[in-house]
Amino acid sequence: MKPRRILVTAALPYANGPIHIGHLVEYIQTDIWVRFQKLRGHRCIYICADDTHGTAIMIRARQEGRGEEELITEMQRQHERDFAAFDIQFDNYGSTHSPENRRLCGEIWQSLRAARLIVEDDVTQLYDPQAQTFLADRFVRGTCPRCRSAGQYGDNCQKCGATYRPSDLIDPVSTLSGATPEVRTARHLFVQLNQLHDFLVEWTQSGRHLQEEVANYLKGHFLHEPLRDWDISRPAPYFGFEIPDSPGNYWYVWFDAPIGYLASTQQWCDLHGERLDDWWRSPDTEIHHFIGKDITYFHTLFWPGMLKSSGFNLPTKVHIHGFLTVGGEKMSKSQGTFVMASTYLQHLDPAWLRYYYAAKLGPRLDDLDLNLDEFAAKVNADLVGKVVNLASRTAKFVETSGLSPVYPDDGGLFQQAAAAGELIAEAYENCDYSRAMRLIMELADRANPYVEAAAPWNLKKDPAEADRLRDVCTVALNLFRQLAIYLAPVLPRLAEQTGRLLNDPITAWRQSQIPLTGTPVARFEHLMKRVDPKDVLAMIEDSKPAEAAGQTPQFQDSDQPLRDEPIAETCSIDDFVKVDLRVARVVAAEAVPDARKLLKLTLSLGGDQRRTVFAGIKQAYEPDQLIGRLVVMVANLAPRTMKFGVSEGMVVASGPGGSDVFLLGVDAGAVPGQRVH
Ligand code: MSP
Ligand code: ZN
Repeated sequence: MKPRRILVTAALPYANGPIHIGHLVEYIQTDIWVRFQKLRGHRCIYICADDTHGTAIMIRARQEGRGEEELITEMQRQHERDFAAFDIQFDNYGSTHSPENRRLCGEIWQSLRAARLIVEDDVTQLYDPQAQTFLADRFVRGTCPRCRSAGQYGDNCQKCGATYRPSDLIDPVSTLSGATPEVRTARHLFVQLNQLHDFLVEWTQSGRHLQEEVANYLKGHFLHEPLRDWDISRPAPYFGFEIPDSPGNYWYVWFDAPIGYLASTQQWCDLHGERLDDWWRSPDTEIHHFIGKDITYFHTLFWPGMLKSSGFNLPTKVHIHGFLTVGGEKMSKSQGTFVMASTYLQHLDPAWLRYYYAAKLGPRLDDLDLNLDEFAAKVNADLVGKVVNLASRTAKFVETSGLSPVYPDDGGLFQQAAAAGELIAEAYENCDYSRAMRLIMELADRANPYVEAAAPWNLKKDPAEADRLRDVCTVALNLFRQLAIYLAPVLPRLAEQTGRLLNDPITAWRQSQIPLTGTPVARFEHLMKRVDPKDVLAMIEDSKPAEAAGQTPQFQDSDQPLRDEPIAETCSIDDFVKVDLRVARVVAAEAVPDARKLLKLTLSLGGDQRRTVFAGIKQAYEPDQLIGRLVVMVANLAPRTMKFGVSEGMVVASGPGGSDVFLLGVDAGAVPGQRVH
C-alpha cells in the first residue's frame, strides 16, 4: 500500500482560558487518530496553534493591566504544558499572532478581493459605553429574536439554531460590564458567501467530506436559502491584524483563526525544509480537521469557501464530535465538574482519561458523558484487570530466560488476534474508537483464560516445568504485546514500556502480526495503577470554587427593617464567584478637586500590579489616613470611564453614605493580591 500523506488539525484553542477536560475530548481524539496513522506507516502531521485574537483577550489584558502579547505568551505556555502532559503530541504548535499568519491572511484576503467577494456596508452594532468597545457576538446576551429563549449569545441561538446579528437580540446586556449596550454604526467589510452557494451545496452534500448528520444540518439550516454576507471586519480597538487596505479595521478573529492552520503548517515546513504547497495545494495530500459541533458553521461553510476562493486544497474530511457532559450534565464550576487539565493531572493518570474517552467516542456527533463511577470501574476492569495483568502475572518468570526461541502452540490465540488487526484498524480509521476498544477487549477476554488455565505461578514451583513455564509466559507476553500495539494510539506510554520490557520498541501496526521469540525480557516495571475513587472525588472537590461563605457582617442593630431597597434578583453561586475580591494596599490617595465625593486611589495588588480606582468615600476619609491601609477590592470589574479618568475596580465598603462609609476591614496579616473568600 502506498503511504498516504495526511495533514491533521484540531481546533485552535482560545488563548483566553486554560485547557479543560471538555477540550481534551478533541485533542485526545485527534491525537489518537494521528498516532494511529503514523503507526500504520503513513506520513501524517498534527498541526495546531493558539487562537489569540479578539475582544476577549483585549479586555482581559486590559483588566490585568498588561499587554496582550504577554498574556497570550503565558497562556500558550500553559496550553502546551497541559497538552504534553496528556501525551498529546503536535508536530507543530503555532499561534495565530504570528508573522506567518499575517502574511497568509493577506494572501487569502487578496484572493477574496480578486474574486470580487468583498463588499462594504454600514453596520449598526452594539457598543459597550462602559468598556468602550464594540461588542463581539459572545459578549452580548439576550433573548433570541426567533424562539424567544433568554440568555442567548449574540451570534446564534443554542436552543433553535437561528443565526442573527447581535443587534437583533431582544433586551441585550453586555457581559463585559453588565451595561446596556448602545447601538452605533461603523463601516464593515463582508464576504459575499452566497456567490459560492452552488459550490458549497456540492461540497457539503457530496457524501464524502462530512458526517451525514452534518450535511443534513447544513442543508436544513443554511443552504436551503441564500447565505448571508459574512461580516469579517471589526473597527478599532481590536486585538488582531489590521486589514492592509482598510486602515482602522481589523480582521475578525474567525477570519484569521482557521488561516492559523496554514500558518502553523508553514512554520512546520520551514523547520523541516518542506513546501507549504505540497501540503495545501497538492492532490496527493489529505487534510482532516477535527472540531466540536459548536464550530461547525465556520469549518463547513466559511472555511471551504475561503480555501476554494484562494486556490488551496479543500478539507478531505471535517470530523465533528459532540460535547462532554459530566454525570449527564453540562460541566459546572459550582459542582466541581468543570475540571481543568492541570487539576486532573494533580490527581489522576492521563492515560486513564485517554482510554476512557476512546472507549466512549464514536464516529457521530453525540455528546459524550464522563460518568465518574464508570470511569474508575472501566479503567480498572479493562486496563488493569485485563490488559496489564497479562504482563504483570508473567513477565517476572522469564526475566532470566527470555522468551522461548520458537513460538509455542497457543490454540490459535495469536493468529486470531492478528487477524482482528484489520477490523480494529478500520474502526480507528473511521473514528469509531469505542468499537476499536471493544474489539481489543474481546481479545483480552480470550487471552486471560489461557493464563488462568496454564497457571504459571504453579508451574514456577516445579523445576521440571521450566520449559512449559517459559512457553506459557511467551504466549501471554505476546498476546499482551499485541494488545499494547493495538492500544498504542490511545496509550503511547504503555506501548513504550512494553517495547522496553520485551526489548523491541513498538513502532508499527504490523508488529502485531508476528510473534516475538527469543528476545530477552527486561525487569518488570510497574505499568499502571488502579483508579482509586477517592482520588477522583478529590479532583472534583479541588475543582469547586472556594466557598463563598466567609464571614457574615456584624449588624449593630439587627432589628432595623430593611431600608427601602428591595433585595435584588437572586444571583447564583456561579455568578457570585465571578467577582474576584482581592486584598489591595492603598499606595496613594488624593482628593479629586471637582468631585464632591470622590477620592482617587492607587491600589497595589502585589508585584507591579497597580490599579486606579475612584471611590466615593471623600466625606468619610482623609486621603492621608488611607495610605498604607489594606482594603478589599473587586479586581475584575470592567474598567469604567468617568469624568476624571478610568476607574479600574471598586473598593468594598458599607454604610448609609456621606461621612458614614466604612471600608471593609482586612486582617493585618493579609497580603496584597491575596484572594478574599
Ligand atoms: N478558537 C476556536 C476554534 C478556532 S479553530 C480555527 C474555539 N476555541 S475553544 O477553545 O472554545 O474550543 C476548542 C475546541 O474544543 C472546539 O472544537 C470546541 O468544540 C472544543 N470543546 C470545547 N469545549 C468542549 C466540550 N465541553 N466538549 C467537547 N469539546 C469541546 O472554538
Ligand atoms: Zn432561538
